[in-house]
Amino acid sequence: MMKQSPAISLWEAYAFPVGAAVGVRQLSDPAIAALCVREFSALVAENAMKPMYILDRQATLLGGSNTRAAITLEAGSPIADFAAAHGMTLRFHVLVWHQQTPRWFFTQGWDDTPEAPLVEADVLAERMANYITDVMQAVNRRWPGLVSAWDVVNEAVEPEHGHPQLLRTRNSLYYQIMGEGYIRHAFQTARRNAAPGQALCYNDFNSFQPDKQQAILRFAKPLAAEGLLTGIGMQTHLTMDFPASMSEYEQALRRYADLGVEVQATEIDIRTHDNTPTGQQALADRYGALFAVFRRAVRDGIPMGHVMLWGVRDCDSWLCRPERPAYPLLFDHTGARKPAYDAALQEEKQA
Ligand code: XIL
Repeated sequence: MMKQSPAISLWEAYAFPVGAAVGVRQLSDPAIAALCVREFSALVAENAMKPMYILDRQATLLGGSNTRAAITLEAGSPIADFAAAHGMTLRFHVLVWHQQTPRWFFTQGWDDTPEAPLVEADVLAERMANYITDVMQAVNRRWPGLVSAWDVVNEAVEPEHGHPQLLRTRNSLYYQIMGEGYIRHAFQTARRNAAPGQALCYNDFNSFQPDKQQAILRFAKPLAAEGLLTGIGMQTHLTMDFPASMSEYEQALRRYADLGVEVQATEIDIRTHDNTPTGQQALADRYGALFAVFRRAVRDGIPMGHVMLWGVRDCDSWLCRPERPAYPLLFDHTGARKPAYDAALQEEKQA
């Protein structure tokens, strides 16, 4: 039986932009494209705007510079074009991240052989600054006014690496080559290149956990005070029992807002492998509790920025594998709204 269409869609229900991560292939499916236009006011590329898809090694070698890598926006351009054509905003994900950035970006001579020696800190600092500058300028030039938030630095904290300030060390070439200073350097560069109104975000997962939050606040606080960092992205990859209570998440969100920056929920999914009606009702209850956190934030004057689902349909989710399907999102594999959708929507207009 077809469900009745709710009177308003997700993005219309909220004062903050609501959106989802998409890939180029999904958007080329007319049904998914229509769903996105109806439900969302913002998009983010799930992968296509990560450094590995923007950096062009051949062109970099031809360019002959040791500090300026060549970039291309082609991989993600259909997503940006789509967002622009439909009056949506774009979250740009991501400028500086230890993952999905090719190792050759960090090596002498842009060498892509596995053991190639790494560059010194001053060279990487220049490469990073040029990359951030070139990408931000090219994107703002090609799609003026489209990007409303940049993920400047992603996932710089990892409590398990044993660093005294809980920074990610073991698998971050940025940290290994430049030390902690890479974070400030990235934000300083982004600040110089941001268009008015664009949020400059630090983004991380499990950022509601007290130890992680403390580590983030330590470096985010001075950056926020100087106006270099203007947004915190809580990735919001949750499970059915982590965090144990949504109030832990809510407290963290409010503490980030105390920095005087906007708070965003950037990569929402709630992992469940239970697709029974009971399992999906439990998921709906959890989505209801999560969106209630956002509603209370708005009610209390907290600047809520983007609220983004990490995928549209369950079958598009990075958590869903053929051998182990997952059902963590608001739309099922046919694109139909799930109970979690109704719970997130709550069908009430927010002021
Ligand atoms: C994930 C994508 O969803 C996958 O398709 C890809 O293979 C790996 O990256 N934190 C982030 C996102 O900031 O970029 C990650 O996205 C999920 C975790």
